[in-house]
Amino acid sequence: MAQTSQAKAQTMRAVALDKFGGPEALKIQDLPIPAIEAQEVLIRVEAAGVGAWDPFEREGRFVEIMGVEPAFPYVLGTDGAGTIAAVGKNVSRFKEGDRVYAAQLANPKGGFYAQYAAIKADNASLIPGHLSIEQAAVLPTDGLTALTGLEKVLGLKSGESLIVFGASGGIGHLALQLAKRLGADVFAIASGTDGVQLAKKLGADRAVDGRGDNVLEAAKEFAPNGIDAALVTAGGERTDRALSAIRKGGRIAYPHGVMPEPAAPDGVEIEAYDGETSPTLIERLNALIDSGPFEVHVDRTFRLEEASKAHEALSEHHLGKIALRIE
Ligand SMILES: NC(=O)c1ccc[n+]([C@@H]2O[C@H](COP(=O)([O-])OP(=O)(O)OC[C@H]3O[C@@H](n4cnc5c(N)ncnc54)[C@H](OP(=O)(O)O)[C@@H]3O)[C@@H](O)[C@H]2O)c1
Repeated sequence: MAQTSQAKAQTMRAVALDKFGGPEALKIQDLPIPAIEAQEVLIRVEAAGVGAWDPFEREGRFVEIMGVEPAFPYVLGTDGAGTIAAVGKNVSRFKEGDRVYAAQLANPKGGFYAQYAAIKADNASLIPGHLSIEQAAVLPTDGLTALTGLEKVLGLKSGESLIVFGASGGIGHLALQLAKRLGADVFAIASGTDGVQLAKKLGADRAVDGRGDNVLEAAKEFAPNGIDAALVTAGGERTDRALSAIRKGGRIAYPHGVMPEPAAPDGVEIEAYDGETSPTLIERLNALIDSGPFEVHVDRTFRLEEASKAHEALSEHHLGKIALRIE
């Protein structure tokens, strides 16, 4: 394995849990730099994404669902970006110094809230477009989940109309832009006037405030015969009311984790799904991003040492994503 002088250091700074718990359980620690296997790469992490699901994992509920025995200290962080510091002997796609982004859920070798992460090479990619390191760090899981929902689950076609519910959130603001690239007419249901502004800027054909506006009236004006499909990223009574704008024979998709689970009107298909990943899907996401101006919206960036503040910020109104910067 090729190894840079940086990676020769034995330990790294990480935010790790000694036990599952609240934001206060996130503590800076010195931990061993993870070793890589033949099919893995070592990333010198410069930024990590803070996922909407990270508090759930921090509380130990992920390992419970997945039925795995957690190893402590436990390092969170599904998403991240940085520089390749070392490559496993079977990896030919990357070399030291490449700027990459990657996602790996519940990585047993530790997540991205750390100076280094050992990742399956298949989960990593060169950074597309003109994205900053923070933008690349927050992109992968939500970008792939948006794309899986639009193409695989909804089978969205050019010319169709689409609701993006939660259009100013992590998945939503990416889904909106990807759906425009796939040729859809997008009715964006965003949060707050700032959310509506963002959705308009990102190219929504119509954007409304799902916490204040008369969404159904606006939806009727937008598509008098009903809307073809919806990608839903937040649940509740307002969601279910908005979904009555979907036409008979239309379809709805939402990623597992959206609570309460959305309910479909009669005659409308509904499917819960998980975001997928593969080198082909990542290339597809990169190609769509590269095909024109694309914004990954990072609302706030915290230092690694402030990870607990970043977790608290997740539950406050924000647009797009939250990042950690790792020196
Ligand atoms: N299964 C999978 O593969 C997978 C992958 C990624 C994510 N997920 C899950 O999918 C869900 C969404 O993820 P995310 O990253 O997009 O989360 P997020 O950034 O929190 O996005 C949800 C958005 O919905 C907005 N919202 C809530 N109520 C609204 C309303 N009435 N009208 C308009 N907007 C409203 C929220 O805004 P405010 O709160 O500011 O109002 C927020 O911006 C989470 O539960 C996450 O865990 C699952």
